[in-house]
Amino acid sequence: MKAYRASLLYFAEPANGESGQAVFEEDGLLVVGPDEQGSQRVQALGSYQKLSAGYAGVDTEHLPGRIIAPGFVDMHIHYPQLDVIGSPAEGLLPWLENYTFPHEKRFSAPEYSAQVATFFIAELLRNGVTTALAFATSHPESVNALLGEAQKNQLRLIGGKVLMDQNSPDGVRDQTEQSLVDTEALINQWHGVDRLGYAITPRFVPSCSAAQLQGAGELAAKYPDVWIQSHVAENKDEIAWARRLYPQARSYLSVYEQFGLLRPRAVYAHCIHINDEDRALMLGTGAAAAVCPTSNLFLGSGFFDYAGADEVGFLYGQASDVGGGTSFSPFHTMLAAYYVGREGQTKPGLSLKPQQLWWQHTAGAARALGLAGVVGNLQPGCEADFVVLNPKATPLLARKTAQAGSLDELLFALIVLGDDRVIEKTVISQALAT
Ligand code: GUN
Ligand code: ZN
Repeated sequence: MKAYRASLLYFAEPANGESGQAVFEEDGLLVVGPDEQGSQRVQALGSYQKLSAGYAGVDTEHLPGRIIAPGFVDMHIHYPQLDVIGSPAEGLLPWLENYTFPHEKRFSAPEYSAQVATFFIAELLRNGVTTALAFATSHPESVNALLGEAQKNQLRLIGGKVLMDQNSPDGVRDQTEQSLVDTEALINQWHGVDRLGYAITPRFVPSCSAAQLQGAGELAAKYPDVWIQSHVAENKDEIAWARRLYPQARSYLSVYEQFGLLRPRAVYAHCIHINDEDRALMLGTGAAAAVCPTSNLFLGSGFFDYAGADEVGFLYGQASDVGGGTSFSPFHTMLAAYYVGREGQTKPGLSLKPQQLWWQHTAGAARALGLAGVVGNLQPGCEADFVVLNPKATPLLARKTAQAGSLDELLFALIVLGDDRVIEKTVISQALAT
């Protein structure tokens, strides 16, 4: 058992559909210890004054002036696009064609995949991200590199081989039958091993034949606790393309429904250009949206409609979408999410509260992934993945956070001015001594 004395930031368990209310304990104690399987979980947390006597014999690390908060959860990221960050293009489709597909070809080489995976996992941890749902490439070797590296670092990471058997260049295009055989073999190899999970990963409707989508849906039915990850309704040209391929479909999202690809643990990046019928479909099937604000601003894709989403009440959370997205830092993502919320020309503009933004990148994202009570929070029983934040990491942050008169002001200062410099330490459940 080990205890940490610091300020604590965590979330009350949300009532049905409500986003969690943040709890801030100025002088708190977090106690972690192994469960029966040996994985480190939160045993207790609360006020230092109230709890410390009960844990007097426990080794306690004092972190004055620091905040312990849940590790961040990134709902959508592409590890092979690490080096694609910052590639300018006239929108999504030219960006895929000119930068992303050519780059992803390189991941047929296991050594190259391994080298990028090592950097990628280190970069997640440096930024305080302890759980991610990640795309690999269409090459099975790229999944082995990613999940192997995550396993080494004892991370709770979910990944999958991209399915893309049409409208894709040589070198990344896969073969329908083989792609499904490979997917099932990877599920059996990786899903549920240590803290790892597998995600069936049809890239998006234009890149997958009907037979491939059909096969993906069959695997999704056969393995109900495996995740599904894909993209939908990101960009107007992409949507027009999907409509040309499925002229009879009610909407782009409904194509995935047709193939059995909407269900709990199905995560769709973007969900920008959707209507209320689509929102109801997300809600009714239990599928979740990964909001990707830095990517949507960088590629000029559009603005996620938070008010529309909340009116219907489907699941969503925040994501970096690196390399369409521009940063690994959850602080940058939360700030971009705030900008996207404010935009009021294409949808109602609103001011997302800092507590909501933070929840959407931790406990809310975990809930959307079907991992509520497992990660993304520090409630007793949660796996002990957490970050130690230094609210005075830069001169301007020190000045601004010293003036914060409320929790909202403190969190907003961190969101607006924070980056990887705020993350002093990232602690992973199984490896307390990082
Ligand atoms: N749609 C299909 N593939 C991709 C991708 O790699 N990134 C983004 N942002 N959208 C996609
Ligand atoms: Zn993506």
